[in-house]
Amino acid sequence: MNSSFFRKKSIDKIVADQIEIEKLEGGSMVRNLGVRDLTFLGVAAIIGASIFSAIGQASANGGPAVSLLFVFTAVACMFTAFCYARFAATVPISGSAYTYAYTSLGEIVAWILGWNLLLEYAISNVAVAISWSKYFVDLVEGLGYHIPDYLTMDFLSAKRAYQEAQTAFAQGIDFKTLSVNVREGFTAYDTAPVILGWHFVANIPALIITAAITYLVYIGIRETKNMNNILVVLKLLVILIVVGVGAFYVQVENWSPFAPNGISGVLKSVAAVCFAYIGFDSISTTAEECKNPQRDIPKAMMWALIICTVLYVLVTLVLTGIVPSASLAGIEDPLAYMFTEVGLHGVAGVVAASAVIALTSALLVYQLGQPRIWMTMSRDGLLPKAFSRIHPRYRTPSFSTIMTGVLVGIPALFANLEEVINLSSIGTLFAFVLVCGGVLILDLDPENQQKSKFKIPYINSSYWVGLALIFSLYLYLPSSAAWLSYWNAHWSGGARADHFLMSAFFLIWLFIAYFSITKRLSLIPVLGLLVNLYLMTQMGATNWERFMYWCIAGFIIYFSYSYRKSKLQA
Ligand code: ALA
Repeated sequence: MNSSFFRKKSIDKIVADQIEIEKLEGGSMVRNLGVRDLTFLGVAAIIGASIFSAIGQASANGGPAVSLLFVFTAVACMFTAFCYARFAATVPISGSAYTYAYTSLGEIVAWILGWNLLLEYAISNVAVAISWSKYFVDLVEGLGYHIPDYLTMDFLSAKRAYQEAQTAFAQGIDFKTLSVNVREGFTAYDTAPVILGWHFVANIPALIITAAITYLVYIGIRETKNMNNILVVLKLLVILIVVGVGAFYVQVENWSPFAPNGISGVLKSVAAVCFAYIGFDSISTTAEECKNPQRDIPKAMMWALIICTVLYVLVTLVLTGIVPSASLAGIEDPLAYMFTEVGLHGVAGVVAASAVIALTSALLVYQLGQPRIWMTMSRDGLLPKAFSRIHPRYRTPSFSTIMTGVLVGIPALFANLEEVINLSSIGTLFAFVLVCGGVLILDLDPENQQKSKFKIPYINSSYWVGLALIFSLYLYLPSSAAWLSYWNAHWSGGARADHFLMSAFFLIWLFIAYFSITKRLSLIPVLGLLVNLYLMTQMGATNWERFMYWCIAGFIIYFSYSYRKSKLQA
């Protein structure tokens, strides 16, 4: 019996188990996906709530310069994509990062990674459902119907808007001059039925769409290759309309200043921008269905990332060029909003209608993905057997699918878009860090390197990592006065936690610099690890606090259940 928390599942064992499962389930999956299908799959998963919704608040925070953050984050994702590809070629199993961590970093890390994939898949879908709801409401309004505001938004947004409006009224500001989202939030809170002193404000369309998608996934309507390709084309079309038509309405003055709130304003959008790239890794879950996974998966990930980055940059520039970025604060349907602002109500309607369909496809991808991960974890004994139960007639993981529906649908009723995105992004970045770290650890053993059919181009990181650290420290803290004020900020002022996070990051960097020299680590995974870690440090203390609670909850479940029930325990 292996009782260590870091017990690992060997790659050979995973492959043998998989063959067993395939025998039971009547054969392996069909290998018919090529680079184009995989790229489309990636784009389908990547383009969602961010570009349709979160980009509004992100642009309000950082202005047009958010476009540069998209490029920077894309580079981090590309490093990470190499690591995903490396694993997908070695362990061609659908459990994705969870399975990879099981082979390289051990059970407890795999568990916490699987636990965080819940943030990446299920919780991110809460954001997609909220975004869907906003565009759906626009569409319905465009058709001349009105759904009461209190049935279309979350409680927190409504309450905040109500308070903001009250403050404005106290200063004698007229209701009509308040921003759209404050007006809507105020009306929602003000007109909501009050039950036991509580204003009933809930996002009903978000719940309904989640229930509908869960039902489709439950009865086994799988997103077929062709259907997925059509939906992706539609998604791309909406974005191209936004960019193509929007370009004529750009007022170049709106791009100046390019970063109205400075670098800190741009970095405030890290969560939204990272969220925008969530999904590129989902390509790796299809390793068993690819014609040539080791060649096609890395290529498709790169293509998907390149296509999405170009679109994200263009949309950000058009959006912030049409309306002043500050006016986008709190706007959850910015792409329709900007056209309404310039009087193009017809285009706004077309965008809203297409967004509803495009976002439905994004919902489907994650609602399908989450049960698969649970299924794999349950097969390993880390979750109860019910999670891997297959419906006798529909052949779908029935219990997992329903649980996913509940876990997405209920928070979608009450959750605030920004907070969901923050939590989902930090969890996903953590998963990326572990995948990059996993590759470094896996490759310490030359035997593992030989087993993989995909090799990450090897560049010896040696002294580069240490030199880059010295250079970054020099840029970050150029004088002794800067060092002193940095040091003091750890102990006083409002940004203490941020400074501790930054120092922890530099320490980890130092640690990696040491191993880069002694173990001749490969540069690409090292860069992936460092850049993702850096992005995590920019997520702010509140998000870190929530993330910590989330991980603690995960560890409690692991120690009270999963550790004892793990198949490796037997
Ligand atoms: N990347 C996905 C989105 O933006 C999660 O909705």
